[in-house]
Amino acid sequence: MARPWRGVIEEYRDRLPVGPDTPVVTLGEGGTPLVRSDALSDETRCDVWLKYEGANPTGSFKDRGMTVAISKALEEGSKAVVCASTGNTSASAAAYAGKAGVTCAVLVPKGKVALGKMAGTLVHGARVLEVEGNFDAALELAQDLASNFPVTLVNSVNPHRLQGQKTAAFEICDALGRAPDVHCVPVGNAGNISSQWLGYSEYLNDGVIHEPPRLFGFQAAGAAPIVEGAPVKTPQTIASAIRIGNPASWDKALAAAKESEGAILAVTDREILAAYRRIAREGMFAEPASAASVAGLLRLAGEDRLPEGSTIVCVLTGHGLKDPEWAITGAAHPPSIPADAHAVAAELGL
Ligand code: F0G
Repeated sequence: MARPWRGVIEEYRDRLPVGPDTPVVTLGEGGTPLVRSDALSDETRCDVWLKYEGANPTGSFKDRGMTVAISKALEEGSKAVVCASTGNTSASAAAYAGKAGVTCAVLVPKGKVALGKMAGTLVHGARVLEVEGNFDAALELAQDLASNFPVTLVNSVNPHRLQGQKTAAFEICDALGRAPDVHCVPVGNAGNISSQWLGYSEYLNDGVIHEPPRLFGFQAAGAAPIVEGAPVKTPQTIASAIRIGNPASWDKALAAAKESEGAILAVTDREILAAYRRIAREGMFAEPASAASVAGLLRLAGEDRLPEGSTIVCVLTGHGLKDPEWAITGAAHPPSIPADAHAVAAELGL
């Protein structure tokens, strides 16, 4: 019998740290589209699928982790939550805290948060504080605050976040009937790649899948501490979501890449923007940071590192409307015409 998608906690309850008394705070997250890219499949001679996480309620994969983090915070009696964010975590935390009726404070790097993310964070009623510093400084501050005051940290260092986010791996396997051969994902604070490895490993251990994918994580070249093997003091990239110089889940991400026989690599802003435009032409509007996964796929293909016929999933982590500037910059200004069908036809060359 048909039934609506119930959000990741109810869909995967037996695999998540919730009990009968956990108050479930959900906005119906998860169940996002897995869309085959014919163009990328042809070009790479592989079977390429895009997991469109922009379809989550607040427009990014963060909602998967936030439903668990906020539900657990509520269960534990927390009255307030805090996070540092480049914008998506904060929009998600604000929305779920709003639904739960708890106070949400967010610390963001001053002047560095994309328009759609700030809009979401504000409209859901979060207390936004702009930190004079980058994301890494804001995260340190949030951790400090949570250690000394009665407020729950909901960044991905909160283990409940990773538990929720692992459900993306479950959905991919459930949809394909197996794990992909290769899984590509952008890396910022490195929670997501860690959580997805957690998900695949769990399915592998339980015999739901028989082979795990190789995990490839992609940092932006100007913000690639894991690739360089040292923190980056002033990370720089147009992909503001992953402008992070000292990722909290560094070790977990490296372990995921190593255990899965994948790698953490860097892609340039130029490659990111080219991938961003490309997938948009196929109808998939994802923010620049998300396009790092596809930029990385094309890099791997260019280096002949993908066996022909491989099944590949690239995660598109956030919606394009979050950071609309890059869609408009460089686009032709629409011509102005009279309200007349002949004028329209002439303009379109029909
Ligand atoms: N893609 C998007 C759209 C993101 O917002 C983020 C992280 C990532 C990828 C990277 O994921 O941090 O788990 O490695 N955004 C965080 C935020 C930092 O504050 O919204 P990660």
